Amino acid sequence: MEYRFSDTTKHFQSSAVRDILKLTQGKSVISFAGGLPAEELFPADAIKAAFQAALSSGTAALQYGLTEGYPLLREALSARLQSKKIRVTADEMLLTTGSQQAIDLLARVYIDPGDVILVQQPTYLAALQVFQAKGATVISVDGDEHGMDLEDAEDKIRRYQPKLLYVCPTFSNPTGYVWSTERRLGLLKLCRQHNVLILEDDPYGELQYGEEDFFPSLFSLDEHPHGSVVIYTGTFSKIAAPALRTGWAIGDPQVIGQMAKAKQAADLHSSSMDQQALYHLLRDFDLNGHVASICKTYEQRMLQMDELLSGLRVDGLKWNRPKGGMFLWMELPENWNAQDLLVEAVAENVAFVPGSPFYANTPKLNTARMNFTHSDSDTMALGFQRLERAMNTYAQSLKPSAIPGQVS
Ligand SMILES: Cc1ncc(COP(=O)(O)O)c(C=O)c1O
Repeated sequence: MEYRFSDTTKHFQSSAVRDILKLTQGKSVISFAGGLPAEELFPADAIKAAFQAALSSGTAALQYGLTEGYPLLREALSARLQSKKIRVTADEMLLTTGSQQAIDLLARVYIDPGDVILVQQPTYLAALQVFQAKGATVISVDGDEHGMDLEDAEDKIRRYQPKLLYVCPTFSNPTGYVWSTERRLGLLKLCRQHNVLILEDDPYGELQYGEEDFFPSLFSLDEHPHGSVVIYTGTFSKIAAPALRTGWAIGDPQVIGQMAKAKQAADLHSSSMDQQALYHLLRDFDLNGHVASICKTYEQRMLQMDELLSGLRVDGLKWNRPKGGMFLWMELPENWNAQDLLVEAVAENVAFVPGSPFYANTPKLNTARMNFTHSDSDTMALGFQRLERAMNTYAQSLKPSAIPGQVS
């Protein structure tokens, strides 16, 4: 059989993270690569009880459900979001199969091949995969640890007339950066002026460490009576468990309605069982208390990684100490290539993600993303011994080798 795939598949790219995870599977590799929550912190007993409760009221949880999502969960979720200053009514919300599906659905209804999408640099690579698969032209905007560079954003909006701008402003993947309120307000103004829809992806906003600061979502700041300029996506993956595959999109009913139609074609609806269990989890379990407790552990792990990085004694190594999320962003010495370092690292049974795949355009080859949430203290310490060995071997390989007969 000669298979005749669609033109769309020409744009498909495999995820670097998934490839690395495959490489490390079944081996005793310590991985700082995946964006994985810590399994030992999953509220497993509460989730078990929630599934039992969902089944105890009959078999409705096993039946087909509404495309928009289980009504009681939508209600409970909108109440939860109100406490985070996000006001939303039922027709402004769509429950999705993870927030990844929300990104995909928005791209399906909003993007035609050749349309321009602006993204922050670096950015979440599975969003890049979605946009590239839709045939969009993805252009990155400069930025720093306080958010997108608004001058560069304005310049690129004028030059390329994008339809959509994708950002993860609170504890971003991959950098862990959080935007200032000033940049948030500036971006909203700019996008409203130029009619550019913002996709605000917020899977990590609740994982906040240390400070009491409140980082308002773009969606909550966009108090505009005539059509929100923001579609906001969130997920239960990082605060409950990713296997429940439940996320959401909220925004103007016109956009949410189109996304719901696209979802009918994609999967009819997300799992009734998972959604009903989540409803019981929200009703019967102290999810906020659970989030506070995992944040304590994640903060300790982040601080431990910060300390271990300080102990590496590599000239020119830089990283940030994030205020939340699951990642810190590493800049290796200028002449290092993180992809080559990864080869040495995997040989030492430790992994991370090189930064390149997070760049839509010109990658910075000496960058890498480190996940600090998944490894416990001993594992992280052992992983760093291996990483140090890998870095030493790699640094040695960069030294010009002595050629016999020459004085080096
Ligand atoms: C920035 C970002 N957006 C979206 C997702 C998708 O998460 P999920 O589909 O599990 O909700 C992830 C997952 O790691 C992510 O890092």
